[in-house]
Amino acid sequence: AVDISALRSTTGLITLDDGYANTGSCRSAITFIDGEQGILRYRGVPIEDLAERSSFIETAELLIFGELPDTEQRDDFRHLLTENSWLHRDMRDHFDAFPTNAHPMSILSAMISALQSHDLPEHHFTDENGFREAAASLLAKTRTIAAASYKSHIGQPIMYPRYDLPYAENFLHMMFSVPYRDYETTPEVAHALNMFLVLHADHEQNCSTSTVRMVASSRANLYASISSGVNALWGPLHGGANMGVIEMLEQIRDGSWTPRQYIDRVKDRRSGVKLMGFGHRVYRNFDPRARILKEAAHSMLDAMHITDPLLDIAREVEQAALSDDYFTSRRLYPNVDFYSGIILRAIGIPVDMFTVMFAIGRTPGWIAHWKEVSDNQRQRIYRPRQIYTGENLSEWRPRAER
Ligand code: ACO
Repeated sequence: AVDISALRSTTGLITLDDGYANTGSCRSAITFIDGEQGILRYRGVPIEDLAERSSFIETAELLIFGELPDTEQRDDFRHLLTENSWLHRDMRDHFDAFPTNAHPMSILSAMISALQSHDLPEHHFTDENGFREAAASLLAKTRTIAAASYKSHIGQPIMYPRYDLPYAENFLHMMFSVPYRDYETTPEVAHALNMFLVLHADHEQNCSTSTVRMVASSRANLYASISSGVNALWGPLHGGANMGVIEMLEQIRDGSWTPRQYIDRVKDRRSGVKLMGFGHRVYRNFDPRARILKEAAHSMLDAMHITDPLLDIAREVEQAALSDDYFTSRRLYPNVDFYSGIILRAIGIPVDMFTVMFAIGRTPGWIAHWKEVSDNQRQRIYRPRQIYTGENLSEWRPRAER
């Protein structure tokens, strides 16, 4: 990589890099990816170890504060999460204002923005303790908002968080308990959800994280920056792909296409259809998260004695793609979204909540990147240039002459 950051001039040479494919936007000490070898590490710790052994909250602390917590730090942070898991009464009233068919991502981004007004005063999270509390509040409340939006959507009362449950189990409680019956999870489900969240927790300069960093570079507050990240994640080429994968597999299951026909449709460029859950800007051999999730989907379904025809279809589609020159020559392999939906379905998460699940998982990464930008006193505002392609000079004409 060539560092041209010393060239601070605003005139002269402009490098045009479509989609920023070869542009480094920052220096970052949070997440390391080697796309050729399929390596992903948070603060140097391999993703495989974290997925198997760490809780989501411990992983969040690693990303946000730079190291795995000792017992005292973990207990302190848990306490903060518990204290901050409730929504202000007025926040709960906002849910009634959304139409029942509102997309959960639109509710999530609007509610995170609104949270800033109800939560901590802006000056509060510029000191270390205030920031810790704001981070805990966002982690806890993103989960509460997600579950509450689901409950509102299906017309059930909002369930309060419980103090005795770990993060993933508490989310399942808020999603699936009803006032007269507590939902009871199994260790397999809790483990799979925890792993899903850990694997989504950060991924360096992806579209939503770059958005968070860009907004943060204008010195916008944490909540405003993260709400922007949620909106960037919503798109089908990014976090929205996990819904797209299941919709694709369902079309194949329902007989609209065979896996081979679907692949041929993708290859016919006129169709404009992409193989959802395939391809990645950085991973060119395999996505380590997809490998872990594929294995986890199998073990989870086995342990729960569930057969999901979509898993077999996914394997067939993967095999068909990986034996096709179109995909191999472009080095397109399954990404994190290809198998994650099978796990979420088995847990009972409705498809239109899938991207929200991704957002809950990505929140620690967004917070860590906001902090990295905000801590850098010398951080310049993100402000790319362009190559202008419009008219050189146009004459203003009165409306009657246009
Ligand atoms: N299906 C079919 N063709 C594809 C796919 C796909 N999923 N992905 C890339 N290609 C093709 C492109 O059309 C392009 O072909 P060309 O060279 O003949 O024009 C070539 O492969 C290179 O792809 P790019 O578009 O340059 O890849 P880019 O790095 O810009 O995009 C992306 C990466 C957005 C992930 C892309 O692969 C894609 O759209 N995948 C499907 C959506 C998806 O799964 N998104 C989730 C990404 S992971 C995440 O956000 C968590």
